[in-house]
Amino acid sequence: MWTAKAPSNIALIKYMGKQEKNIPCNVSLSYTLDNFFTEVQLNLNGKSDSDEFINDILSENEKNRFLNHLQYIKDLLSFNGYFSIRSMNSFPKSAGIASSASSFAALTMCAFKAISDVKGIKMPSQEYMSSISRIGSGSSCRSFFSPWCIWREEESKKIDLPVEVEHQLILINSGKKNISSSEAHRRVQSSLLMKNRPQRAEFRCEKLISALKSGKWHEAYQICWEEFQDMHALFETSSPHFGYILPATLDALIKIRKFWKEHNDGPIVTLDAGPNVHLLWKKGSKELHKSFYEEYDFQKFSFFGSDCNLFIANL
Ligand code: PMV
Repeated sequence: MWTAKAPSNIALIKYMGKQEKNIPCNVSLSYTLDNFFTEVQLNLNGKSDSDEFINDILSENEKNRFLNHLQYIKDLLSFNGYFSIRSMNSFPKSAGIASSASSFAALTMCAFKAISDVKGIKMPSQEYMSSISRIGSGSSCRSFFSPWCIWREEESKKIDLPVEVEHQLILINSGKKNISSSEAHRRVQSSLLMKNRPQRAEFRCEKLISALKSGKWHEAYQICWEEFQDMHALFETSSPHFGYILPATLDALIKIRKFWKEHNDGPIVTLDAGPNVHLLWKKGSKELHKSFYEEYDFQKFSFFGSDCNLFIANL
């Protein structure tokens, strides 16, 4: 049996819009979420003539994407055996965190581990596995590099930033999205704002790296705010337009803005293609974030009794 574990990640500079083989239209920069990971187990299955799942946490569509990706790696390595697959998340599926990044990264690692072992060949580099994982799910290529990763065109790599952060999520809605991220990548091509989008992302990425390197936390917050608003503006100006922001999302964002104003400090905030609010606090600012949740009445949520950095807005 072979096992591999991979974390999810949250982008501060967003990947939105793609070309063939999930080559992104613009640079992105992410923080790896070590508490939110997927573990994949593969077992050789001599009795079967197809790969099959032995647990049931994925939808039919997700299962097919997973099986296609496994087949892609098997073809790449000219392997014609079959596996039984078990996949487990450390976080509730309803957490509103995309599990495709962690699950495709874990599947890619596990498939290379298993097939390299059976064939007696060397394991490929993280960089190579990341580029293969990208073909299954774009943002999964960033889950190979912790804690910070930069992804540009076909290359994703670790980037050293001298800042330690703590991630938290304010859960606004855990339901399935109406528009998948694949559909969002397609639709944003119709937005007039896509024209200079790569330049804007590149400009912000450079500014963000420099702000984080020089400890300019307020500036980093400002850049990340502009960036997620930029991505959501692409959604709202696509044809047909769509959006993920809910009244409770706006409420949380307004509270964060107010908090920053009052304390001249606070968390970096970002939204993915969804209504939930991701916060990154500077390590060592526990008192500050405690006062944030108390002042604004957010409640801690626990998963199987353990603290999983999730909060619920008490509206
Ligand atoms: O990897 P995909 O195709 O699920 O796209 C993810 C896109 C965003 O989550 C919205 C942004 C990002 O950079 O992760």
